[in-house]
Amino acid sequence: MARRVRKAVLPVAGLGTRIQPAAKVTQKNLLNVFDRPMLAHVVAEGRAAGIEHFVIVLGRGHGAIEDYFDHAFELEAGLETKGKTEVLEAVRADLLEPGQMSFVRQMAPLGLGHAVWCAREIIGDEPFAVMLPDMLMDATPGGLSQAVAAHEATGGANVVVVEPAPPGEAHKYGIVALGETFAGFDGRLKAMTGMVEKPPPGTEPSNLFISGRYVLGPGVFEALSAHATGAGGEIQLTDAMLKRLASEPYFALEYDGVTYDCGDPIGLLRANVAFALRSPTAANQARAAVEAVLGRA
Ligand code: G1P
Repeated sequence: MARRVRKAVLPVAGLGTRIQPAAKVTQKNLLNVFDRPMLAHVVAEGRAAGIEHFVIVLGRGHGAIEDYFDHAFELEAGLETKGKTEVLEAVRADLLEPGQMSFVRQMAPLGLGHAVWCAREIIGDEPFAVMLPDMLMDATPGGLSQAVAAHEATGGANVVVVEPAPPGEAHKYGIVALGETFAGFDGRLKAMTGMVEKPPPGTEPSNLFISGRYVLGPGVFEALSAHATGAGGEIQLTDAMLKRLASEPYFALEYDGVTYDCGDPIGLLRANVAFALRSPTAANQARAAVEAVLGRA
């Protein structure tokens, strides 16, 4: 029986190189996607998957992220006085209960693997999720819910969400090598036989890239504690998972949904349009606005 996945690590300490200068003073993950910061969409996806504790791995100067999930007394009092109930509810919807969020400082940008390792004491000895907040997933059920379902179906195995890389772009990502298909999941859940971070073009073992949701056993921390560097001179989560693959099962789930890479301006634009068009209250207005812009283009 799989243990319940209660905690998620959200690494946000990256420099946001591909989206500068937009992320110079506003932390990248606080950039807006339709009606709230991209990070708030990802936390909502985590809550829907049963996550009760979010460990956010911050870099220097990222305090605004802590403030976003806290009360804003002046704003809330002002909205209350003016009777702006709907706005007040929207503002409060993203708040978590006290104690449901921890903030950990990654003191140097040494890589994704290092960021996850920074959360080890708070995760402890239980399975946990990793969510990369700039990879926004539009899916029902959510991307992490699908991964947790696969984790449970496999009796508690490690699960990594994957999807086909755009042609010619596989070398920019972590790429998986696959073996046998697991029964159910419409053939979309397969045992992993290998993985490689940013393979040189032409050497990719498949076109399926790791797209930003993971359910991992705590054993990965042991592999990460070696602090071995890999692609780009960084401590890579993919390398640590590969090490564990020798002794633990790993599955790749080709999830059912659409991913927007909000770490670059066009991905962020696409996410904004997509999330506006699926909004129950604003879809018609959003469609009219997009069509008006296109009509002038
Ligand atoms: C990270 C991971 C990579 C994954 C990618 C998804 O890379 O290391 O395996 O495919 O996120 O966005 P990064 O984007 O930090 O280079």
